[in-house]
Amino acid sequence: MRGILPVISRMRMDHDGAGSLHMWGDEVPVTADVRDGQPVLETSPDAHFPLVIRCTVNGDVLRMRFTNVGVEFDLTFDRAGEAEIAAHAAAQPVATPAPVGPDVTTNGLATAPPMGWNSWYGLRLRITDELVREVADALVEMGLRDAGYTFVTLDDGWQGGRGADGEILPNRGFPDMPTLGRKLHDLGLGFGIYSSPGPATCADYTGSFGYEEQDARTFARWGVDFLKYDWCSAGALYRTEEEMRGIFQRMGRALRESGRPIVFSLCQYGAFDVPRWGATVGGNLWRVSYDVEDRWESIEAIGFAEHSTPVGGWNDLDMLQIGLGGLSDVEYRTQMAIWAMRSAPLILSCDPRDLSASELHILTNRDIIAIDQDPLAAPVERHRIGAVDVWVKRLRVGHAVAFLNRTEDVVEARMTWEHIGLAHPARTRDAWTGVEAPASPEWSVALAAHESIVLRLLS
Ligand code: GAL
Repeated sequence: MRGILPVISRMRMDHDGAGSLHMWGDEVPVTADVRDGQPVLETSPDAHFPLVIRCTVNGDVLRMRFTNVGVEFDLTFDRAGEAEIAAHAAAQPVATPAPVGPDVTTNGLATAPPMGWNSWYGLRLRITDELVREVADALVEMGLRDAGYTFVTLDDGWQGGRGADGEILPNRGFPDMPTLGRKLHDLGLGFGIYSSPGPATCADYTGSFGYEEQDARTFARWGVDFLKYDWCSAGALYRTEEEMRGIFQRMGRALRESGRPIVFSLCQYGAFDVPRWGATVGGNLWRVSYDVEDRWESIEAIGFAEHSTPVGGWNDLDMLQIGLGGLSDVEYRTQMAIWAMRSAPLILSCDPRDLSASELHILTNRDIIAIDQDPLAAPVERHRIGAVDVWVKRLRVGHAVAFLNRTEDVVEARMTWEHIGLAHPARTRDAWTGVEAPASPEWSVALAAHESIVLRLLS
């Protein structure tokens, strides 16, 4: 499972100072430089996890230090410049036992799937207070807040170590967290933040390991309303389901005791069937997959995967990719349709100022948002008619039906309402076109590659 250290398994360096690291199975280019007489390795700033790694040389051995994780790797290169990880964990922290205790009582928050914006895909590690304020203003001006996108979450990259008293500190990009929190609240937005149960986050920033209660209190004091808690380096310390549940529960309980209502968002990529137990550790939503990407294959794989029905919270299919530029409007509509039919959190992640008019329309579609937020939160019934996937969701009033084409071809199917277990409605409204029409007893749909049609059935 990803997140278990060492994240780096192999490394190659050429004599001219260029090379690559194997991180989580991916080959990441690095360049070597010398600063203050010691080697420094650096990934490209565009890398998924940009890193600057300080090194020391001792005879033939290169020691790489990941400052935030507190882990050191020793590498001995052979003549061809190849090195396997020789040793690690010079200073690796020791796991504190975190036995699973009684269920955390519900905080009563997130009664509908949370909606908002998260910095990760649009800004990555470039986030600063200033950019987040600009995004927050844009969410208001562009009508996204009023459409329901209210949580503004700083993902990885805001942290800057700890003070002498152990208090977690923001980095230079965030001069004053409580003031940022107030600014968001004044705009009618919620303040979200990110941490990890491990000593370091996935991008090697300070995690909450060993400081859970103190961090929960700090976040409460800053006015935080939402915490995304990402497994990352905790995988080096905790391996079993019991251990994972215990350490998430430690933060869940700390948040409940912090005196502030804080939505708790678990991120452990769906391990150990989390929909069954996420709420017992205080979670309100939990990721059920690895990271979504701005590619059709990723949307399809995550969107169509089956998961256990969530108990007491929401299955998080990860963020909306709309506005990031990798897909067509047709495909972005299909992501939105699938997420809404599955009652998934709707968290956009591009810089909203980059949205085209049509993408903004997709994100603010009232029928689609109402389907997502419907209070019944009924699981979809899946049918397949010919090559068309037909999903039916019972709503508090009526039903929604989504026709989805996950293939590369134009597909067509004839059907009746009985085929999909429904009584013949009087009228339908097409969520994407807004067209209302009388419903005929038998009809056909034709869908372009990756296209979706979503109908609301009206009596
Ligand atoms: C991943 C997580 C992403 C993002 C990233 C930050 O593990 O799934 O959503 O938070 O870490 O480093």
